[in-house]
This record gives sequence, structure tokens and C-alpha cells, in this order.
Amino acid sequence: MPPICMTSTYVQDAPGKPRNGFEYSRTQNVTRFALQDALTEMEGGACGFTFTSGMAAIHTLLLTLKPGDRIVAANDLYGGTHRLFSKVMSRFGLIFDFIDTTVPEQLENLPADTRLLYLETPSNPLLNITCLESAVAAARKVGAEVAVDNTFATPYLQSPLQFGADYVIHSTTKYIAGHSDVVGGALIARSEKKKEDIWFHQNSAGTVNSPFDAFLTLRGLRTLHVRMDRHCQNAGMLAEWLQGHSKVERVIYPGLKNHPQHGVAKQQMRDFGGMVGFELPGGMPQATDLVKHTKLFALAESLGGVESLIELPAPMTHASVPPEQRQAIGIADGLVRLSVGIEDGEDLRRDLELALEAV
Ligand SMILES: Cc1ncc(COP(=O)(O)O)c(C=O)c1O
Repeated sequence: MPPICMTSTYVQDAPGKPRNGFEYSRTQNVTRFALQDALTEMEGGACGFTFTSGMAAIHTLLLTLKPGDRIVAANDLYGGTHRLFSKVMSRFGLIFDFIDTTVPEQLENLPADTRLLYLETPSNPLLNITCLESAVAAARKVGAEVAVDNTFATPYLQSPLQFGADYVIHSTTKYIAGHSDVVGGALIARSEKKKEDIWFHQNSAGTVNSPFDAFLTLRGLRTLHVRMDRHCQNAGMLAEWLQGHSKVERVIYPGLKNHPQHGVAKQQMRDFGGMVGFELPGGMPQATDLVKHTKLFALAESLGGVESLIELPAPMTHASVPPEQRQAIGIADGLVRLSVGIEDGEDLRRDLELALEAV
């Protein structure tokens, strides 16, 4: 097993002559390097970096751009990513446009000065699927790069770099670490072109994850394939069951045949993931009542852990997206998001059944 290398600094052989190139832990740490190497290999990238959080990974990618650069982003992103773009980085001269990347006409008409196309697929929380091949082709037409947040799919289910994307982002907090006990992020690049640039900004801003966090994440990573199989199996079963439930108005799951991009999901994903969305006819009041009644599905933000979670994106994970915008893109106030864990599937179904009976 890789050691948890807890040193902050390294002894030098002579002034300015670090031993084996190891100088200071913000710059080099063997535990972090082991995690970076593993994730780079799994995504099929040329280089990769890990961070204190998923947000730090996204922030670092943006730091490699310059004032006046245009980023075209999907309008359906994790609320924190939307906040970083619209409220923070826009103050530093980056220009953001938000489009629906699932609509071919919007994707195919990127402004000529676009530098980066940024998207999530499946997206958080609506589980929209963007066609990776089309997104890459559209970006290439205007000479832009493509960054894909692969948090929901993980490298086990989807490999954006193989479709030509330039960067993959992860909140490793989620499925990669997998046990809801560590926050972290990753940025993996398809080529070495920006390796020095990313490394320079990571080191300058100091957003590296700790050796212990890197160790925990690596430990989680070893069971990713086994966990994902069970997440997908449970989520698929629950989505089908919810769809047939008389009290449920609408179910969102890329594996359902009536999902608008089911065909694209089948082409570019190896399975459909562990996230499920649904709506009840009574909207927010009924959804709020529902989450009081589940026992196995704990009411909490985040996702991707072995234990099941339930949440309402509008007042929770996506509260930082303005209400008008949430409505415009289809995040209903009463939307319920499930992160389906790896518990016994029948126990999970029964938990939801009893909660639905109670509302
Ligand atoms: C899709 C997605 N990307 C990025 C993030 C941010 O990651 P972190 O919370 O590790 O900063 C999240 C967090 O929920 C997420 O769901």
C-alpha cells in the first residue's frame, strides 16, 4: 500500500538541491502522486492533478485562462460550479455564456471566440446527457477546448477523453472516494500541453489535497467498479419502480427508455449510474414531507457514497442558482434527487414505498 507521507518538507542534500526532486509537500507528495497517477490512468489521460475539492479543480482549470476569454458552459451544472462561474470568476474578466448543450442548434453555434466549452454529463441534478462526440466537434469548429465534469458517471461508466474532450473534472468526494468521508477533486488532461500551466497554478494557489485525504480516496478507488455495478443495479430498479408508482408524477433516469437522451446515454456510457430524480404532484410541500419519512435514505447533500441519500436540489444543492434560472432550465422546486447507495435494493424500495404511503 502507498504510505501516507505526512511530511510538509524534505531534507535537501545541499542548498537548492532537493533529494530526488522532493522539496515541499504542496509541490510534491508521494501519496498524492499515487492518486493522481491512478486517476490519470483510469481516465486515459496524459497528466492529472488532485485537489482539496472538486471546486478547487474547476477553479484551477479556469486559472489557466486569461481575462477576456469566453467560456460557454452548460446551463444545467452543479450549483457551486454555477456560482463559481457567475459570481466569482466573472469578476476577474472571464466571460461566461450558458447554453443548453443537449440542443444541437445551441451547441453548433458557439461564438467564434469561445476558448472553453464546459459541461456535465449526466448533469446535476437533471441528469441531462450531452452527446460528447457532438460537443467535441462543435468546440473544434471554433478552436475551443472541452472540459467534462465526469463526477456522476466516473471513469468506470464513461471516458470523455476517448471522445476527444481535453479535460475531465471530478469531485472525488463522490463515487471515486465513495464513502462520504473525504472531500477532494481531480483535473485530468488528455495531452501534456497544459501540464506545466496546471501544475503552476495548483502550486501557486496551494489547493492540494492532504496525504491522508489522498490515501482515503485511493482506498475508495479500489472498489469503484464493484460499487458502481451495485449503484447502477439499485438505481435502475428503483427508477422503473418509481415510474410505475401512482403517487409519482415524473421520473428522471438516463436508463429509462423515455429519458429524452436515452439513446445518447446508451452510446457513450457503459451503464446509467446511481442518481435518480423524481417529482410528486404536490410539489415542494409534498417533497418536503416525503424526505421526513425515509429512514434508509438520509436527508443530506452530496452523493456517490455507499449509503443512500435523498435531497431537494432547489433549497439545498442548487440554492445558489437564482430561482428564475432554476425554473427556466426545469429544476422544479419539488424535484427530489436520490443518490442510490449499495444497500439491499429491496430494503431501499421498501423505504421509499413506506415514505410515499405516508405523504
Ligand atoms: C457534478 C459536481 N461537480 C463538482 C462538484 C463540486 O465538488 P466538491 O463538493 O468536491 O467541491 C459537485 C459537488 O456536489 C458536483 O456534484
